[in-house]
Amino acid sequence: MVRVAACGLNFADVMTAKGGYPGTPPPPLIAGREFSGAEDSGGRRVMGYTQWAAFAEKTAAHSSMIWPVPDHWTDEQAAAFPVNYFTAYLAYWLAGMTEPPKPGRTHRALIHAVAGGVGTAAVQIGQLLGIEMYGTSSSSEKLERVVRLGLQHAVNYKEHDYEEVVRNLTHGEGVDAVFEMLGGEHTAKSLRCLRDFGRVIQYGTATGKSPKLDLRAMYAKSGIVQGLWLTYLSQKREIMEPAWQQLSKWIAQHKLTPQIGHVLPLERAIEAYQLLEDGKNYGKVVLKMAN
Ligand SMILES: NC(=O)c1ccc[n+]([C@@H]2O[C@H](COP(=O)([O-])OP(=O)(O)OC[C@H]3O[C@@H](n4cnc5c(N)ncnc54)[C@H](OP(=O)(O)O)[C@@H]3O)[C@@H](O)[C@H]2O)c1
Repeated sequence: MVRVAACGLNFADVMTAKGGYPGTPPPPLIAGREFSGAEDSGGRRVMGYTQWAAFAEKTAAHSSMIWPVPDHWTDEQAAAFPVNYFTAYLAYWLAGMTEPPKPGRTHRALIHAVAGGVGTAAVQIGQLLGIEMYGTSSSSEKLERVVRLGLQHAVNYKEHDYEEVVRNLTHGEGVDAVFEMLGGEHTAKSLRCLRDFGRVIQYGTATGKSPKLDLRAMYAKSGIVQGLWLTYLSQKREIMEPAWQQLSKWIAQHKLTPQIGHVLPLERAIEAYQLLEDGKNYGKVVLKMAN
């Protein structure tokens, strides 16, 4: 049992509220999939991942899904860690980018919603892995902040077509991986951004539209579309443990800092949900508990 101090709000919570998230139990439902706080017995500071019931004074968590809070992190930072950093790290892992590239080559990634929760985590991890990163956002202001985090190629998709930008800047070669969470036409467009044998890591559908494929682009580049769902992967210790080993090493070296754009008290949760639904957030939106 954990006395909850703060919680991370995720796009999945917005989808859950709308009734569109797979596996949502019938109401009444206490939402919330990540939290920080103190263990009820002993008081150890922990951060954790669950599926439901984190937006509460106390929550129960599986021991394999809680991790010690780094001493130099606040409760808010800890609440912003689990979903964003595990998802971003596993996206690189699935794309084969946690291993060094062949000599003389640099891994390239295109990260959609780069100024969001998962996006900013992906930029910090990408910088540590030596990835050449391209990132999209609707806002130049948000992009400026992500460039300060290490993003090399920022694309405001309201002003530029990211497919064209990637083609031009990579001299027609494309990127090794696209972290794709928009769905609809964007999956097909992302396939067209791939380098030979590249892969689109499909991990969401924020547009609400089913991903469309461009088979011609897939054939032309021997491209792959691969799914990523943390809910599923988190049940696999053999995957989560090595990911935590690497992430905790970087944390201890002060190389990862969760980006938090907004902290609101639980009573203002509606506004917090609205920020994510409208795509107005930078980094993570955190809900603070009263206790
Ligand atoms: N598969 C998994 O295990 C997994 C795990 C975590 C997250 N996800 C998915 O990853 C995505 C990002 O999640 P997050 O919690 O980190 O959210 P987020 O990126 O912090 O917020 C969503 C961002 O998406 C962008 N966006 C583009 N089109 C949008 C639209 N039609 N509606 C709303 N936002 C839109 C907005 O940024 P711009 O305006 O800057 O483009 C917005 O800020 C979501 O699709 C989520 O479901 C999947």
